[in-house]
Amino acid sequence: MKIEAIKKIAVIGAGDMGNGIAQLGVMAGYQVAMRDVEERFVERGMTTIKKSLEKLVEKGKLSPAERDAALGRLAPQIDLAAAVREADFVIEAVPEIMELKKQVFGDLDRLTPPQAILATNTSNMSISEIAAVTKRPALVLGMHFFNPAVLMKLVEVIKGEKTAAESAQTALDLALKMNKAPVLVKKDSPGFIYNRVNAPTGLFLSKITEEGHPTPEEFDAAMKAVMPMTPFELVDYVGIDVSYHSLSYFAQVLSPEYAPSALFKEKVQAGNLGKKTGRGFFDWSQGRPVIDPAKATAEYDVLHLIALQVNEATKLLDEGVVDDPKVIDLAMANGGGAGIGPFTLAQSIGYEKLVAKCEELAARFRLQVFKPTATMRQGNIIV
Ligand code: 3HC
Repeated sequence: MKIEAIKKIAVIGAGDMGNGIAQLGVMAGYQVAMRDVEERFVERGMTTIKKSLEKLVEKGKLSPAERDAALGRLAPQIDLAAAVREADFVIEAVPEIMELKKQVFGDLDRLTPPQAILATNTSNMSISEIAAVTKRPALVLGMHFFNPAVLMKLVEVIKGEKTAAESAQTALDLALKMNKAPVLVKKDSPGFIYNRVNAPTGLFLSKITEEGHPTPEEFDAAMKAVMPMTPFELVDYVGIDVSYHSLSYFAQVLSPEYAPSALFKEKVQAGNLGKKTGRGFFDWSQGRPVIDPAKATAEYDVLHLIALQVNEATKLLDEGVVDDPKVIDLAMANGGGAGIGPFTLAQSIGYEKLVAKCEELAARFRLQVFKPTATMRQGNIIV
């Protein structure tokens, strides 16, 4: 199906990602059904969308008439069959649990028109494995948005083994209609680009909580001057459950070293998931946490984070997930708040310094994942 034929979108899941994607859909002029399993989840999604639209009106990015028209195109739903009955394009944004995704895709395959494209907003998981539960793997792909979906420019469009070129093109076109900067990920590989490059950072944070020092606040304080949202704050913002599921998935498919720390697990079990529950590593009950740069310790600095990113990015090149380092930089610059890609940073900082940082972390935590690759040591990637 080509982009011109898309009239109705269904978004499955009304959580942070689902409601952001639904909002993007109605703002791009589509009819959107946003579905979740209980009334209260759909209600919460609707409230978030209304608040976000209001912010955009306040800033003059949307007129009140455009806001009303956008809301008029949005249909909250509990009934899955009703939500997807006439959908041309479905985007699934349910929790990151493979069995759940498979169950949803089985249902979608039965309930949607046979020509509908089915996309998953999974952060990490195999598109091919999800597609395999359907009878239409050519029409199944990954369409990965970033949090907050309304503001972050990147959308990764991921082809599974059997995804048709036309389906991927339609997803890229849809992302452009939503005013995003999409990149095509040609090889279905854990974490795709953005989350794979950031995977060692997640592991690093998990290991710091295992060591118990510095505290999340002290660690973030050292990064505050150079990051719009500091690492532990960002984990809270996205959800500790999301990080926990990602680390667990990477432990299965990349390396057992990724297994999340006991503290991450405890926070998830206690329901202290970060911003969405009011408490995580920080207290969010009064809004964003205030991180005092004066609390920084000398143990780590931003070069440690950059080094881990650049090193993992070289693995994506080595593994053939991406063949052009510029695509990695583009994705990394648009997916979060950094605005600049790892290879561009490495060129200006110098690979030698970054290799030393990787070696320091690999030795300190005794982790292979942090070891500098041969490509990293050569240090001759030009973007
Ligand atoms: N809708 C509309 N406007 C919004 C909004 C939303 N959902 N969220 C924030 N805004 C607006 C605010 O109202 C504010 O407007 P103003 O400048 O007119 O006051 C503006 O955006 C900036 O917000 P804040 O003042 O609260 O704070 P910041 O300047 O720090 O911006 C941020 C917030 C855009 C979230 C910024 O901190 C940022 O870029 N953070 C990094 C986010 C990031 O890295 N995301 C990627 C996470 S990884 C991921 O999603 C992958 C997944 O698979 C897990």
